[in-house]
Amino acid sequence: MSTQKPIRRTTAPQITRRKGGDPIVSLTSYHAHTAAIVDEYADFILVGDSLGMVMHGMESTVGVSLELMIMHGKAVVRGTKKALVVVDMPFGTYEESPSEAFRNAARVMKETQCGAVKLEGGVRMAETINFLTERGIPVMAHTGLTPQSVNVMGGFRTQGRDEDTWAMHEADARAVADAGAFSIVLEGMVEPLAARITSQIPIPTIGIGASPECDGQILVLEDMLGLNPTPPKFVKVYGNLGGQIEAAVKAYADEVKARKFPGEEQVYR
Ligand code: KIV
Repeated sequence: MSTQKPIRRTTAPQITRRKGGDPIVSLTSYHAHTAAIVDEYADFILVGDSLGMVMHGMESTVGVSLELMIMHGKAVVRGTKKALVVVDMPFGTYEESPSEAFRNAARVMKETQCGAVKLEGGVRMAETINFLTERGIPVMAHTGLTPQSVNVMGGFRTQGRDEDTWAMHEADARAVADAGAFSIVLEGMVEPLAARITSQIPIPTIGIGASPECDGQILVLEDMLGLNPTPPKFVKVYGNLGGQIEAAVKAYADEVKARKFPGEEQVYR
């Protein structure tokens, strides 16, 4: 008799089978508490390397380390039960060779117990995606605006404004799908291009700033909760957590300064 527990989480192949069906819901999360809330509603949770900017105040995702991704990946897996957890491969840990990518992605999978990894790049990463998937690592691809290449691109710019670039973006998406990626994030892309790609490939497209033409959407949780004072233009902000936190901290500080020491009168008498 097997002592293994049955897998109850959403799996990468289940995400692939959602192509063209009900829209796929996804958000980022970097820690256990928020992940537990998101888990109720999201098909997959991305431990994005955007955590470098959101959690650690970095200027871009370039400085994020594998250790940081593993630490936050563990927290999100511990906090969740249902959603597929996807962990980003950070810059410099997968581009050099397929075997380097396998070594680091396997470490992410083993140490976090996540269900898949994500990496940036199209045609140039196809060989690596194939190498990983053939060895048991589900890969979500990420094309269009790829933030890890910010220093080459010279900024975060919407992709596909020039129609001459569409063929290149379409080739990227086809290459990662052919290589075995189970889905693909399309970031910062004009709507007609996102629509063309979504209709051309057999895996779900997950848009972020890439229009409702995709098979699903992902947002950075802190952006949609109102914690980022300057969220990207395309983000609908559903909460005002920044304002609420500030009001709560101010109320607390005022009470302590007035020697009220809120809550303390209830205990240790
Ligand atoms: O790191 C991240 O949060 C991401 C999303 C923007 C897709 O890659």
